Amino acid sequence: MNLIFLGPPGAGKGTQAQRICWEYSITQLSTGDLLRAHISKGTNLGKEAESFINAGNLVPDELIIALIKEELLLPQYKNGYLLDGFPRTVPQAIALDKLLDELKQSIDLVLVLEVPDEDIVERLTARRTCPTCGKVYHLVFNPPLSEGKCDLDGSDLFLRKDDNEETVTKRLKVYKEQTMPIIKYYQEKNLVQSINGVGRLEQIYKNIKSILKSFIKEK
Ligand code: AP5
Repeated sequence: MNLIFLGPPGAGKGTQAQRICWEYSITQLSTGDLLRAHISKGTNLGKEAESFINAGNLVPDELIIALIKEELLLPQYKNGYLLDGFPRTVPQAIALDKLLDELKQSIDLVLVLEVPDEDIVERLTARRTCPTCGKVYHLVFNPPLSEGKCDLDGSDLFLRKDDNEETVTKRLKVYKEQTMPIIKYYQEKNLVQSINGVGRLEQIYKNIKSILKSFIKEK
């Protein structure tokens, strides 16, 4: 099963993606996580991407498309994947279609998590992330058991540099202008399922699972 997860910054894509991938034995491919790993390793790609990310802008398409082409060939994606944060522009969606044709693969479903703007800033300024395993927390809605420490490996949690109010507002604007048009692109291919991303994490996960269950049954 190959999925795409779309939604504004802070919609809960990463949070839900981790559970879906664990339950359905597919691999999460988050371009944001890959880029942050390049930044912390100090690679050329990381150096090029950092200023775009910190300003809330998208990293140029050609860099992202090259990254995805390399990544999707790796064996861990052979049994299915969930693309989290990619594609994010129409040229990226077109490049993905071309690549999937070459690999004789296709996308089965595009899940769109919908959350209104007013919830986003509150979610992101209180988000904390584990640098070791990538698990995502929220200081109020999904806090770690021990303050400031990851439940899974005890690492010190951190606040992302792009999770301040000014950058989040910019990221929302970029999402509306550059990423929302690809929802229409996938609607025309009859692949889109929208999910309300407001409410308890558990309920949202149940709703996603019921969409996936009926998709698997139909297949
Ligand atoms: P990326 O890392 O992909 O960030 P994003 O899309 O902005 O999404 P987030 O990771 O911020 O949010 P999320 O939806 O995963 O939410 P989460 O589950 O963490 O990209 C970062 C940057 O990299 C981009 O701005 C761009 O510069 C660059 N980039 C990446 N991909 C690119 C591409 N393809 N092309 C070009 N540039 C690219 O949840 C958020 C918070 O809310 C957490 O604290 C969580 O605990 C909490 N939460 C989750 N669900 C709920 C709920 N139901 N109720 C209350 N709180 C909740």
